Amino acid sequence: MIEKTIRCPSCKNQLTINGNPGDKIQIICPSCNSKGVFTFPHEESFLSESNPIQVLNLTKKFNNFIAVNNISFSVKAGEIFGFLGPNGAGKTTTMKAILSLINTNSGQIKINGISIHKDPKVAHKYVGYLPERIAFYDNLTALQNMYFYADMKNTPKGECKPLLDEMGLGGALDKKVGKFSKGMQQRLGMACALIGSPPILVLDEPSGGLDPRGVALIRKKIREMKSKGTTVFLSSHILSEIQEVCDRVGIIDKGVLVAQDSVSKLSEKLKLKPKITIELEQISNEVVEAVKKVQGVEKVDVKGKNIDIICDPKSKSKVILAVEKAGGSVINIQTKEPSLEEVFLKVTGE
Ligand SMILES: Nc1ncnc2c1ncn2[C@@H]1O[C@H](COP(=O)(O)OP(=O)(O)OP(=O)(O)O)[C@@H](O)[C@H]1O
Ligand SMILES: [Mg+2]
Repeated sequence: MIEKTIRCPSCKNQLTINGNPGDKIQIICPSCNSKGVFTFPHEESFLSESNPIQVLNLTKKFNNFIAVNNISFSVKAGEIFGFLGPNGAGKTTTMKAILSLINTNSGQIKINGISIHKDPKVAHKYVGYLPERIAFYDNLTALQNMYFYADMKNTPKGECKPLLDEMGLGGALDKKVGKFSKGMQQRLGMACALIGSPPILVLDEPSGGLDPRGVALIRKKIREMKSKGTTVFLSSHILSEIQEVCDRVGIIDKGVLVAQDSVSKLSEKLKLKPKITIELEQISNEVVEAVKKVQGVEKVDVKGKNIDIICDPKSKSKVILAVEKAGGSVINIQTKEPSLEEVFLKVTGE
């Protein structure tokens, strides 16, 4: 039995209802007497596992070339896990393996606890997938293509139009996909991945080919899916996007998973240091020399009335005290934590 809190569409009154997956129940709002029907989503809309994606010792070779080399990781329920790596590192290959789109040489993959090797059909029911290269029927319209996906997913066709609208394709429903731009195809691909509200999303470069508005739209959608409890595994080359939306990241390089953790923990492990910029009313030699003497300060740069300081996170307060003690009058202090770009460049050795 599942408990669900819903809002009456008429008076916005909040109700708690109970039912089993697939149940259709009649509802009468106790506040305004509006009548309605609520359908509890099917079983595959719910995840029972705390790690809905589990990859253990996965290896994939193309002839003698090892594209993915014995990698293991798990994506936790409800988190956004970003998959990073240089071109050709093995991201798409890993995602295709998770979706059983390629044969693998060794390893185990489970989706919501179900082995994709033993029961791929059941396992993949939980997943919405946006491939790196999306193939549509060029001579069908956007809506017809989506109906095709809805049929495959056994989802009501009524979901298609609202999803296309949400992805900014409301004005192109009846346009043949062969005439779509790359960004429009990407938006259609995202709509197809979202059909049936899958509890797991695997998105291979969801922002690829999109204009800034499209990138923001995808980011918003991913956050919205997370707030509904969806587990998201995504690859991207836009490091700011990953840093902004992901709870954890895995970094793959030449087929090897070289790091996995939250950005802040990775920065800590790699001993990356924050940069503090102190804006002063006036710069003096005394202040600069005082900052340089603080233990844990690695680098000091003077730019106009600003001092940029790279230092140990623990030394930040000592630096500020030293500035003030040396007679500096502080106007503003900004701290820039290590970026994902720094983590990425360090672990991929570039
Ligand atoms: N079908 C294939 N046959 C032979 N080699 C392949 C095949 N598919 C992928 N590879 C190789 O496997 C390696 C990993 O490719 P993959 O597409 O997984 O990289 P990626 O991390 O997704 O890169 P990108 O960021 O460019 O999308 C590459 O060296 C690629 O050339
Ligand atoms: Mg790829």
